Amino acid sequence: MKVMIIGSGAREHVLAAAVSRSPRVSGVICAPGNAGTLSFAQSVAVNADDVAAVVKAAKSLAVDFVVVGPEAPLVNGVVDALQAEGISAFGPCRAGALIEGSKVFAKRFMAEFGIATADFEVFDDPDKAELYIRGKSRPLVVKADGLAAGKGVIVTSNAEQAVAAIDRIMRQREFGDAGNQVVVEERLVGQEISYHIVSDGERFIPLAASQDHKQVFDGDRGPNTGGMGAYSPPPVVTAEVENTIRERVVKPTLEGFRRRGITYRGALFIGLMMVDGEPVVLEYNARLGDPETQVLIPRWKGDLMDLLLGSARGDLADGQPAWDAPAAICVVLASEGYPGAYPKGRAIRGIEQAASLAGVDVYHAGTTTKGDALVTSGGRVLSVVARGEDIDAVAEKAYAAVSLISFEGMHFRRDIAWRARREYK
Ligand code: AMP
Ligand code: GLY
Repeated sequence: MKVMIIGSGAREHVLAAAVSRSPRVSGVICAPGNAGTLSFAQSVAVNADDVAAVVKAAKSLAVDFVVVGPEAPLVNGVVDALQAEGISAFGPCRAGALIEGSKVFAKRFMAEFGIATADFEVFDDPDKAELYIRGKSRPLVVKADGLAAGKGVIVTSNAEQAVAAIDRIMRQREFGDAGNQVVVEERLVGQEISYHIVSDGERFIPLAASQDHKQVFDGDRGPNTGGMGAYSPPPVVTAEVENTIRERVVKPTLEGFRRRGITYRGALFIGLMMVDGEPVVLEYNARLGDPETQVLIPRWKGDLMDLLLGSARGDLADGQPAWDAPAAICVVLASEGYPGAYPKGRAIRGIEQAASLAGVDVYHAGTTTKGDALVTSGGRVLSVVARGEDIDAVAEKAYAAVSLISFEGMHFRRDIAWRARREYK
């Protein structure tokens, strides 16, 4: 079977590597992939967000199955378009992906199906939004309705900031049509967790809980990034918390899709905040998280294609997944200046030595080749992943691997998984 992976980040490198190990798979094509996927997969130069181009590439390369990494093609209906051409794909249909593609849809969905989320109002008129904000005394979060490359959520501390956020989104139209409507919601305080499931429309398989680290600097300081690292499992997700998430969030969500007539197949990533010991939903994503995928999929025991095909075909095997390592950590190595502007083309050294350590893998994101050299080409450059028995052991291993890698201006967080590591207690 020929499998095509859509996307170019470390998440897609992880998926492509796991898929390539399946005995069912005869060839892997990355669209477009990165320098890391080039070592075992074919690369096809298409824009992952361009549905027509993706479908054309899949047809011309006689692809049997497509795995979609990022949200934009899902929200643009790539799975429906592939299916219309007889090509099966892992990921939700356009109607299902709206759970990520429209925050208004997601919030109303949660309200309708009794899923705990921050109190909110929806506005399509900036004046009315401002009036509402002025009448509130508690801090608010302002969210552009549509996809905004992860930048459409503005967490504020006071009414002035919230009004300024409305101005940016609705009057200056910083995110274009994604800001036609906004959600204004109560700001919650607590520990964030990522919870992933894979559904086939009927059944679901829960993946292990994880936690990512959005801020650029140690101690959760500095501006937000696409994610500087992740680990699994987080101590805050006890067996009891996990049970609550499944009963009060996952099951009502899947029931909600059924009631809306949506067959939700693919990964569903639920972003939660623990508020006074209770999980409250911040958002849904219609895909696997990045960098969460890096600490989940490499631990999947068995053939990943069983999970992906079972989800897409609607015949997922029941049961709990087995993990081949109890713990994992991912440290992201970023370019100088990231998450702001950053230089490209800097030579990367030491990946082979790092990846030769037992239980360590290095996944690429913003990398490319220049002649014979491997060079940086993005903000997040590499994901260094270690798997093992416990968080302290994997942190030690990952940072030993990181110390072998270098490129000019490279920076990373030294405190990934601090909530679980002995040295931070
Ligand atoms: P979202 O795109 O909805 O996940 O929001 C991105 C990030 O904004 C989340 O991961 C949180 O860190 C933060 N966030 C979103 N909603 C809230 C909220 N109601 N209260 C506090 N922080 C929030
Ligand atoms: N790690 C957050 C995301 O993938 O959106």
